[in-house]
Amino acid sequence: MFTIGAAFSAVIAGRWYTEAWWAMTAPLSGASSTRAWWWNLLALVVIAPPVGLAAGMWGRTRWLALLAAHPINGRAHAEAEAERIRELRARHAHADADAPLVLDDLPVLGAYLDGDNKSDRWVTLPTGAAHIVAIGATGSGKTQSLLRLAAAHLALGWQVVVIDAKEDPDTARAFAAHARRTGLPRRTVRTWPQDGPMDLLRGDGAAVRDRLMATAAWTEPYYRAVASTLLTLVCDDPDGPPRSLSELVERLDPVALRTRWAGTPRGPVAAGIKDPDIQGVRFRFFSLAAELEVIGATSPDGDGWSWEDATAAWVTLPTSTRASTAGAFGRAALVDLIAYLRDLHRRDATRPILLIVEELGAVVSADPSTALLVVEALERARSARCRTVVSVQTIEGLGDTDARARILHGGAAVLAHRMPAPEPVSELAGTRWALEASLGVDAEGRMLDAGSVREQHTYSLPPDTLRRLPVGHAVLVHDSRWTHVAVPMLSTDRAS
Ligand SMILES: Nc1ncnc2c1ncn2[C@@H]1O[C@H](COP(=O)(O)OP(=O)(O)O)[C@@H](O)[C@H]1O
Ligand SMILES: [Mg+2]
Repeated sequence: MFTIGAAFSAVIAGRWYTEAWWAMTAPLSGASSTRAWWWNLLALVVIAPPVGLAAGMWGRTRWLALLAAHPINGRAHAEAEAERIRELRARHAHADADAPLVLDDLPVLGAYLDGDNKSDRWVTLPTGAAHIVAIGATGSGKTQSLLRLAAAHLALGWQVVVIDAKEDPDTARAFAAHARRTGLPRRTVRTWPQDGPMDLLRGDGAAVRDRLMATAAWTEPYYRAVASTLLTLVCDDPDGPPRSLSELVERLDPVALRTRWAGTPRGPVAAGIKDPDIQGVRFRFFSLAAELEVIGATSPDGDGWSWEDATAAWVTLPTSTRASTAGAFGRAALVDLIAYLRDLHRRDATRPILLIVEELGAVVSADPSTALLVVEALERARSARCRTVVSVQTIEGLGDTDARARILHGGAAVLAHRMPAPEPVSELAGTRWALEASLGVDAEGRMLDAGSVREQHTYSLPPDTLRRLPVGHAVLVHDSRWTHVAVPMLSTDRAS
């Protein structure tokens, strides 16, 4: 019915259009003088193109709508047209290397290509996107997207901290170079290992104690209690908490501890802890100190830089060169970072922080308990004027099913790059009703005249779109809506 109606309208419109044309050419043939003839031609030339253009555009739109309404291959037509428009926009976007970093006080992700809600030319990151999970196969452009986000937040005056589990010195260098080019003083741009050891034990006694407890995973309740008691005694020391792990190990000496607290209310507790238990805790921290100090992550005298010293900080965990140390260092650094986020004595509360964990999967596979720590950091960060971005290659990189659910369904935005298994991401963007047609075929495989059409849910962000994203394209999924963006590379040679 619809097709017949449309064809009929087309005939009527066509007839109207030709008649209008004849009406317009009549003054030409009936012109009384050569001069009038020229005037009439001029008028026609002026009128004809806009009329033709409008008719052509209208006709094309109708034609595309007709194709898209076809119950069997309508969706294929609609998608081909969407793809053509995306490609046109993408070509334009990539030619534009000078995309702004900031627009209306919001970080710019890149050029708008397509999406649920029509956007202007540039796509900005909504304020509500407090956690972002960047997912994508190797080489899909995650790191470049993160660099762009880092640069945009630096431009907004945020503090930017990157924990890189991929061991990617080139990107670290590009990050530091960009930060310096934006005019940040040299001493506020810090990278590890390039800028020497870090001090991960800043803060008062209670803060240092909590951090030391979290740095080592204590599974047995008894040893947990012993460690907690010992660390309390050591950190409450009248001389202040230990300034380095080496100093902590020195203080975990049975004789020194008992002498220190003898004659005080804590004397009996200090005297009651068995020597082997003290030694057990001491061994634990001895090996941690040795591991971190040998790679220069921390120093025996406690000197070093920390988060409050850096506006732009990049820490490269040695995940491939020293896997076990990388786990310990990652844990110590994260625990300290979480403490820093919450500690308003250490941190300027008016300056928000962007925390990026690059290739979280590399940490997670080495040490699942650290993954939980990251999830916890993400959850706590929300209330601390902090935006977090973690990058993973697959959903599994976020940790076990529980951790994944906590991150993805806790309101995180997803910045999806090309990926082979995109269904979980498509699911986040929701579904819509669409017609699904099937053809009737008899037992011999001959087509029947009858087929069927039924209405059913389909992904509003088709998984194939994600599977086929070109390098440097990403789809931001937030609040059940998606936006397809071309992320321009941060030009590394741009003058400051
Ligand atoms: N936005 C982009 N525009 C153009 N090329 C890009 C873009 N992002 C990445 N590339 C190219 O792809 C390569 C790999 O990108 P990268 O960000 O390192 O991927 P991933 O971190 O996902 O492995 C880059 O070295 C660059 O050549
Ligand atoms: Mg990368």
